[in-house]
Amino acid sequence: MAFPETFLTELTERNDIVEVVSSYVRLSKKSGSNLFGLCPFHSEKTPSFSVSPDKQIYHCFGCGKGGGVINFIMEIENLSFPEAVEFLARRVNMPVPEQENDRESKKRSRMLALNKDAARFFYEQLSAPGGAPARDYMQRRQIGRATATNFGIGYAPDSWDALRSAMKAKGYSDFELFDAGLVRKGKSGGFYDTFRSRLMFPVIDVRGNVIGFSGRILGDGEPKYMNSPETLVFNKSRNLFALNLAKKSKSGYIILSEGNIDVVSLHQAGFDSAVASLGTSLTPEQARLISRYTGEVIIAYDNDGAGIKAAQRAIGILEKLDLKVRVLRLTGAKDPDEFIKLKGPEAFRNLLEGSEDQIDYRLRTITDQYVLTEPDQKVDFLKEATGMLAKLPGAVERQVYAMRVAELAGVKGEAVADEVERRRRRMLGAARKNEAKAQSRPERQLQPEEKSFRYEDPASAAAEEGLIRLLYLEPSLANNAALPPPEDFSAPVLAHIYTVLRDKARRGDSLSTATLSGELSGQEMSLLVQLLQKPERLSSGERAMSDYIAKMREAKDIRDSKNDLLGYLKKQREKMGIEG
Ligand code: GTP
Ligand code: MN
Repeated sequence: MAFPETFLTELTERNDIVEVVSSYVRLSKKSGSNLFGLCPFHSEKTPSFSVSPDKQIYHCFGCGKGGGVINFIMEIENLSFPEAVEFLARRVNMPVPEQENDRESKKRSRMLALNKDAARFFYEQLSAPGGAPARDYMQRRQIGRATATNFGIGYAPDSWDALRSAMKAKGYSDFELFDAGLVRKGKSGGFYDTFRSRLMFPVIDVRGNVIGFSGRILGDGEPKYMNSPETLVFNKSRNLFALNLAKKSKSGYIILSEGNIDVVSLHQAGFDSAVASLGTSLTPEQARLISRYTGEVIIAYDNDGAGIKAAQRAIGILEKLDLKVRVLRLTGAKDPDEFIKLKGPEAFRNLLEGSEDQIDYRLRTITDQYVLTEPDQKVDFLKEATGMLAKLPGAVERQVYAMRVAELAGVKGEAVADEVERRRRRMLGAARKNEAKAQSRPERQLQPEEKSFRYEDPASAAAEEGLIRLLYLEPSLANNAALPPPEDFSAPVLAHIYTVLRDKARRGDSLSTATLSGELSGQEMSLLVQLLQKPERLSSGERAMSDYIAKMREAKDIRDSKNDLLGYLKKQREKMGIEG
């Protein structure tokens, strides 16, 4: 990590965690010295997100996320460590000395510059004589000049090295082009342009960086779209096409569609809050990103089986974040683009204003699956519909829609309403039982949130956590000869945290969330903060240490003898010729 410790220390001292967090989360005082609020990283109704002004850390008891002020900014603004440092430095007007940017951040900014130059090149090709095929195609799709400029749409010429030579002339190397996904490696070892003969849509993030490209073939052919691969700066699941434009919209909602062309066409027709996910179904990260700019999402997916399925998935993801969700019913057109071309922007506006909310939508998709004049299908319909309604949190909503379902099926309203309530009680009962079961399993509480970190030996892991806690609070223990080697740890993640902490302390570096953020991943940081929450016997540090070490050794003996026994049994079996 290239930032000097003194700089990071001053940075975190000047960016008080309570002030920084407060601009994202409403915090109130609850107990002791900690402040509480609704966690910005998962959806919840009662606050389990805590901030400690004394320790300058945050921790969510619900989702397990935690760290210092830099981690918070990395997580909530979706930034890398050096970017978050820069963000906080700007916040308090502290200069970030140029040479202190680390290598990865240099590589990132170089890649962003390359992407911007490439986008400019594609854009220029659209007006060049060779750009005629793209101009023709745009005319056919009725994409105007102003729209092209607004989106930075361009043209990748029908050539194996047009972009490559232009970028090399600007001083970029083949390897830089390759890392950015702009060229590919041929069989003979040479490089050639990835995007050829395509209409180019730059993907621009909310900070205005060109992070990747999406190229559509001119006309029919396969593949229809080609997207940049994942790179240092491009992560499909964390970005949305056109959010850079949509975030400025005054409409109060975001229109979520599937295709780039749909988005372009919607913006051109005046619906300037349209975005699309980048060729994948909506991810939770994208939903969280959307929720930073709006409280309402209108889904305008394609009018086909895949679109309906995708919409249902998206509803689930968006609702988790307490976003209001409505779904457009595109009739007589396959997608928003075609709808606007066929019926005009006014008709689309009417559609937007009358768009069903998601209960209507879900009810309709269920209804469409059954022939309600057939008695057995009617029964199945009632089963599925009451099951859906039972999950609605509002009692009035359940009642109103129960009546609607009864009407559709031609049965008594009360009977349906009773059935909905019965199913709801059963559902809540089962959920409570599950929760109680989970609570009573003590080892579960010892486990980290992150699944890949799950401890195989919880007894040993508890002691390992204790040792890490001690070391963090009392770094002078790092030179104690009794400290075990990392190999004695049962949990690889704890072994790594331990190694980083121990080595840092041995060098005499201070241990703080700021100095550790550069070396531990966000998930490791969360785990560290979580385990720091537990009380520790500092007054007798060495004593506590030898207790932890003894516990680890005991657990290791048990593990070893178990392994010996298993090995012995395996050998016996092999001797006797038994398989497995
Ligand atoms: P048209 O209306 O047919 O011109 O295209 P569109 O922009 O509306 O796209 P479509 O609805 O066909 O597809 C939705 C999105 O899925 C596109 O914007 C792409 O991001 C992605 N996509 C479509 N086809 C492909 C493909 O062949 N490969 C990849 N990687 N992504 C694709
Ligand atoms: Mn389409």
